[in-house]
Amino acid sequence: MNKLQQIFNNLLKCKSPEEAIEAGTQSELKKTLSIFDLIVIGIAAVVGTGIFTIIGSAVVGTSDAPGAGSAIVVSMVLAAVASVFSALSYSEIAAMMPVAGSAYSYTYATMGELMAWMVGWVLMLEYAIGNITVASAWTGYFVQFLKGFEHVLPTWVVNFPLWLRNDYRTMYELCNRYGWDVHDKMPFLQLPFGLEVPIAANLPAIAIVLVLTLLLIKGIKESTKVASIMVGVNMTIILSFVIVGAFYVRPENWVPFAPNGLEGIFSGAFIIFFAYIGFDAISTAAEETKNPQRDLPIAIMGTLLLCTILYVFVALVLTGVVPLNAIDIQAPLAHAMRFVGIDWYAGLISVGALCALTSVLLIYQLGTTRILYAMSRDHFLPKSWNAIHKKFKTPHIMTWVSGLIVILCGLFMDLNISAELCNFGTFTSFIVICIAVLILRKTEPLRERPFKVPFCPLFPILGVLTCLALMYCKFSAKATSALYFVIWLLVGILIYALYSYKEIRRSEK
Ligand code: ALA
Repeated sequence: MNKLQQIFNNLLKCKSPEEAIEAGTQSELKKTLSIFDLIVIGIAAVVGTGIFTIIGSAVVGTSDAPGAGSAIVVSMVLAAVASVFSALSYSEIAAMMPVAGSAYSYTYATMGELMAWMVGWVLMLEYAIGNITVASAWTGYFVQFLKGFEHVLPTWVVNFPLWLRNDYRTMYELCNRYGWDVHDKMPFLQLPFGLEVPIAANLPAIAIVLVLTLLLIKGIKESTKVASIMVGVNMTIILSFVIVGAFYVRPENWVPFAPNGLEGIFSGAFIIFFAYIGFDAISTAAEETKNPQRDLPIAIMGTLLLCTILYVFVALVLTGVVPLNAIDIQAPLAHAMRFVGIDWYAGLISVGALCALTSVLLIYQLGTTRILYAMSRDHFLPKSWNAIHKKFKTPHIMTWVSGLIVILCGLFMDLNISAELCNFGTFTSFIVICIAVLILRKTEPLRERPFKVPFCPLFPILGVLTCLALMYCKFSAKATSALYFVIWLLVGILIYALYSYKEIRRSEK
């Protein structure tokens, strides 16, 4: 066998499902979760920044994408459809192969080493870069929350400097938008050789990520009980926003319905897709579910349906209450209540949003750690990163790595770029999951499948096509995030070629 052929074989080397399952399951997990618990997990992971913050940008548009206007409701249904097919595919594989590492492990079992690395690398976009979005949205609502105490707290606390609550990119955009002098708004660090570096850092976002990292290192136990309290608070607040807001709706605000036509609707669907991400958390609980064959699909579809209905009503109320040009993009729901003069209620919404965003941050931080853990176990990353803390018995180095990725990248990425990058990563992993279902049906036809995607191969193929279509619309608009996505993929290939490939070969000796 010549060298090239050997390299090619290595790139396509798969881990058998048995190997993956054995490596992943060290303890027998109890099958205790019901449909209700699964839906609670789903809503805790799904409802967050998308509906509390990103909806603003999806309606109004961003610096390089047109907004959907009131037609955001159509965008939401489109994004839900793109999610459904992949959700079903996730259910099939998760019930069949309940292992840590999610899509990464499934790819290793179906498409080989190189693709597994790339999916793991791309999942970092979904989890770690996605968390930059959630953390910076957290700041938006934290500021709104502080404003609720305007009369009690000193002004320097309520109105702390902009450069301490925004990333570098957003600060520059704000200066451009309002014609501010950058030197006036940001301090500059004087470096040798006459170099001046402007400073901006989203301090509340950094602080919340640090607190959660420390909590995770101490070993916080995720329980559906805590999650159900958080979900209860979120749901009550979102529902009350719909009910109270309905009284202030002025139908003339819905006209024109789609100010940027189809382009705005598709672009809105791409951005608001962020609001649906997270239901894969349900599929990772497959092995703890009492009756996965029946409960997983019902819970996944139920979560998606519930969220879609809720999101559509929130969108109708938001765009009906606030005219398009006055919608706030940092904390749109709280601002809507301020807009109609109910300030105290805006404060209450901020509390609900902070609860929702904190639970999403926690779940995603945990997700990043789990995936990095699985990748380092397979020698893609340094083994030493998997060290377990002597006292707390948690993978502390990995937890720090995932926290630091969010903090460092968050210094340079704004909320929209990170959300779009996260969407690119998620779309890619959804596409891979749909393809993995098709491959496994061929390579492992006899393996027991507690749940099967209906209408296979049609549904997985539709999953691939809808995700590709939404990605294409962003690429064709030459969005900055599309460029970053390509750079991210190239960096991934480089790391694999220069480090992981050799490390895996060394481990095989
Ligand atoms: N769907 C999650 C959120 O909106 C990621 O925050």
